[in-house]
Amino acid sequence: MKIAILYGGESPERDVSLKSGRCVYFALKKKHNVKLFDPVRKDFINNFLRFRPDFVFIALHGGIGENGVIQGFLETLKIPYSGSGVLSSALCLNKIICKELLIFNKIPTPPFIIVEKNKEVKLPFNYPVIVKPANLGSTIGVKIVNSDKELETAINDAFSLDNEVFIEKFIKGKEVTVGIIGNEKITILPIIEIRTKRDLYDYKAKYTIGESFHIIPPDLPKRIIKKIEKIAEKTYKILKCSGFARMEIIVDENYNLFVLDVNTIPGLTKVSLLPDAAKYKGISFEELCEKIINLGLERWKRQIKK
Ligand SMILES: Nc1ncnc2c1ncn2[C@@H]1O[C@H](COP(=O)(O)OP(=O)(O)O)[C@@H](O)[C@H]1O
Ligand SMILES: [Mg+2]
Repeated sequence: MKIAILYGGESPERDVSLKSGRCVYFALKKKHNVKLFDPVRKDFINNFLRFRPDFVFIALHGGIGENGVIQGFLETLKIPYSGSGVLSSALCLNKIICKELLIFNKIPTPPFIIVEKNKEVKLPFNYPVIVKPANLGSTIGVKIVNSDKELETAINDAFSLDNEVFIEKFIKGKEVTVGIIGNEKITILPIIEIRTKRDLYDYKAKYTIGESFHIIPPDLPKRIIKKIEKIAEKTYKILKCSGFARMEIIVDENYNLFVLDVNTIPGLTKVSLLPDAAKYKGISFEELCEKIINLGLERWKRQIKK
């Protein structure tokens, strides 16, 4: 098959995406005619159209690569692609919309308030809180805040990165992540507990060797593992994810669960969380990439029939 891999892009997660794209390229190149394309290149559209791919593997993280824009571009060109469709990608990339949908469907997520620019903030919960831009990833602009003074700075910083900002209650507990692959029929990958000595599972913790650890299985009772799986599955379905996705959940000391974040194009390097979970289940990185392609094709066929 002729496969175009999209990587790089201009989001703050460009560097991770370059790595993901290269890993996917090496995983697929034995079996397929693959080519890497970076949408920021001036000649991108011409070269891409000239290549005439049968399938597009989107290895872009954040921004237009993950929020439905690139997905819509490919829909217009009638080229099947990996992962979630336009609507799901857009819903999941906006953390405020995503949380509102979760709450509407009774899926627990940390309490939050939306910050309006230049309006006084009245916190409905105590410090510490977390300030977040709504449309970014990789912990960019995410800050733990302990006082009114810090709050103002954190809000201003977040608004310098994004037009939508919200404040969440800080939940003390264990952070776990659940990868899911599938369309209508899904496979829940082994849950990973993420440990880091840093305050947050931030950019440095994520991408520096030795700054974070993956613990499989997590140090949690079996019934809680089951509960996490159930919530992750429900979240995947409600947000209409397809192909694959990875969600982050915090488990507090009383084993209450809170869904933090849904990534429709999670990191795809060999050491990233979803590939690591797949490996633990005996699915190699190459097999994972093939599965993602087949799921993309399956979704496409079903869509054409409608
Ligand atoms: N409400 C919260 N309580 C505790 N920790 C949080 C909370 N929100 C975020 N974090 C920490 O910050 C990290 C990044 O936040 P997240 O919402 O996942 O944003 P991103 O899209 O940047 O990954 C999380 O992985 C977690 O370690
Ligand atoms: Mg996250």
